[in-house]
Amino acid sequence: TDLHAFIAGLPKAELHVHHVGSASPRIVSELAARHPGTKVPADPEALAGYFTFTDLAHFVELYLGVVDLIRTPEDVHLLTYEIARDMARQNVRYAELTVTPWSSTRRGIDEHAFMAAIEDARTSAEADFGTVLRWCFDIPGEAGLPAAEETARLALTDGLRPEGLVSFGLAGPDVGVPRPPFKPYFDRAIAAGLHSVPHAGETVGPEAVWDALRELGAERIGHGIGAAQDPALLAHLAEHRIALEVCPTSNVATRAVRTLEEHPLKKLVDAGVLVTINSDDPPMFGTDLNNEYAVAARLLGLDEQGVAGLARNAVEASFLDPAGKAALV
Ligand code: ADE
Ligand code: ZN
Repeated sequence: TDLHAFIAGLPKAELHVHHVGSASPRIVSELAARHPGTKVPADPEALAGYFTFTDLAHFVELYLGVVDLIRTPEDVHLLTYEIARDMARQNVRYAELTVTPWSSTRRGIDEHAFMAAIEDARTSAEADFGTVLRWCFDIPGEAGLPAAEETARLALTDGLRPEGLVSFGLAGPDVGVPRPPFKPYFDRAIAAGLHSVPHAGETVGPEAVWDALRELGAERIGHGIGAAQDPALLAHLAEHRIALEVCPTSNVATRAVRTLEEHPLKKLVDAGVLVTINSDDPPMFGTDLNNEYAVAARLLGLDEQGVAGLARNAVEASFLDPAGKAALV
């Protein structure tokens, strides 16, 4: 329809999308061909069958199968550069890409080579495709505090910290991974000038979002849909313009919500919360950012102006400086 064409043509910013989780079948096949004998099928058609999961924890397990395909700095470069190509095709002009450097360094990729690979891919992609990338380095919550310590070190050490790094996050399953123990690492990241963007309230309730705000100094919340159950929390988010990074299709895919119709997106918007629309791990969830905007338009009953408003929310909630924001709207 016309609205789909409008969405496809709209310049967009994406604030919640994972690096490895953006590996399209084309990219995964290329990596799987480089590293035969791994769990992930190299055949793009078999790949769709591989990504069938029962909940967020099961998804993370399969996700780690793709992480296992990334073994050299050249793999990291290929992944990053090709993601930017896929984004440019959708008119995604700016993305804060969530990168989990711990997954790569603990597999033996040299930390300096890793940073050089993502930074070279970032500057090449900006020159070649016009896609501006920034990094959120995230702690894989399932790996616990040793991974938090290592992620903080990689993010904050002079000589390692990449120029494109703007924020610090926490992902992985949220059931059984309370947020407060991660406070010391977020304190350090914030003191060093990084923005705090933990996942919270993805498959659990509002308490996790309060914890992210109070303990981790969250400036935006990854997902945060659990906030819909707490009117005081919704009012707090709205008043302080703390954006939620909502990923509707992801929430159905991981069974965080049963159906799109039951998704709390409209409730969040109606409460005055600054809502942004994102794709999370798009190929793994069979979606892309354009499709997420189309889903949001349907759930919210939006016309072109309304959709453009969602795109502006992402620019407002981004960590671009004012000149960068002005260039995007
Ligand atoms: N890592 C990749 N995708 C994720 C998600 N949706 N939630 C938590 N951790 C993730
Ligand atoms: Zn996520």
